[in-house]
Amino acid sequence: MIHFNKSIWLCCGFLLAIPATAALAGEVKSGYEYIRPASRAMQDDDFENPGLLAVEQGQHLFNNKQNGAGKACAECHGKDGTGLNTKSIARYPVYSENNAEIVTLQKRISRCRDAGTDSKTLPTDHPDLVALETFVRNRAIGEAVNVQMDGPMTDLLKEGEKLYRTRYGLIDMSCYQCHDIYPGQMIRGQKISQGQGNGFPAYRLDTGEITSLHQRIHQCLSLMRAEPFDADSEEINLMGLYIMSRSNGLRIETPAVRY
Ligand code: HEC
Ligand code: HEC
Repeated sequence: MIHFNKSIWLCCGFLLAIPATAALAGEVKSGYEYIRPASRAMQDDDFENPGLLAVEQGQHLFNNKQNGAGKACAECHGKDGTGLNTKSIARYPVYSENNAEIVTLQKRISRCRDAGTDSKTLPTDHPDLVALETFVRNRAIGEAVNVQMDGPMTDLLKEGEKLYRTRYGLIDMSCYQCHDIYPGQMIRGQKISQGQGNGFPAYRLDTGEITSLHQRIHQCLSLMRAEPFDADSEEINLMGLYIMSRSNGLRIETPAVRY
């Protein structure tokens, strides 16, 4: 059955004529290197990059009190986030010893929002949280991604890699196959990239939306005709962590423009 569906997928030309090329030679490349020149130009131009709208929305949320209660983010972190530590932003997701858990940047923001601003908890990937995350990560643009890979992260990254190499869905493929073996090959008119996380949240031309890394992972799982991981599940956190660790050394591009 799975084989049958995979054949349909192949027949439809999604993965036509992909040769069994060698796996990633070890050089880490941003998705920026794989997108069309026009999309690169759009990303580089602050007036053209549609993702800047989310940065502005996040900036507004950051500087102003929500629902008139508690504090604005800016009261603790400076107007426009000037007090935020960009080096520490580049380390997310981090491991919290206290709760023995992975804390994504969005979770950090959400907890700050709950504790400091006295507002109702928003669900993961709520547009306000994605906008705040886009604004905060944009403060750290140009900073090299620097996710911890030792200590308690060692085992978590192994689990993340295992998920990354698991075959999913009707096409019975793993993330690894597309993003480590086939980067540079064409699929549906797009070049497959290494599936890095350094541009996120990113503006997607395909959907016309600002998209968090976890949302992008969901979208790839749907592309694979697989059941997406639940928001906040262990799986999505481990996968997100592993993806960001692969991006170590790449500069933060938020908001990137991607197909
Ligand atoms: C009452 C003060 C307070 C408010 C209000 C507050 N934060 Fe924080 N925030 C902190 C503290 C303290 C830390 C450091 C926590 C730690 O060391 O783990 C922090 C850490 C962070 C970090 C991690 C990066 C860094 O510089 O350490 C981000 C990002 C962040 N906050 C974003 C926000 C956003 C967005 C809001 C508004 C929704 C917000 N914060 C509201 C106190 C606050
Ligand atoms: C059938 C091939 C295929 C598979 C399998 C696949 N992807 Fe993708 N993925 C794509 C394509 C095509 C894109 C859009 C072009 C690009 O950036 O590679 C993409 C984009 C991405 C991006 C965004 C990269 C960027 O710079 O914007 C991430 C992250 C990603 N995928 C993660 C995953 C994860 C995690 C899995 C496994 C759950 C996965 N992908 C499985 C084809 C695939």
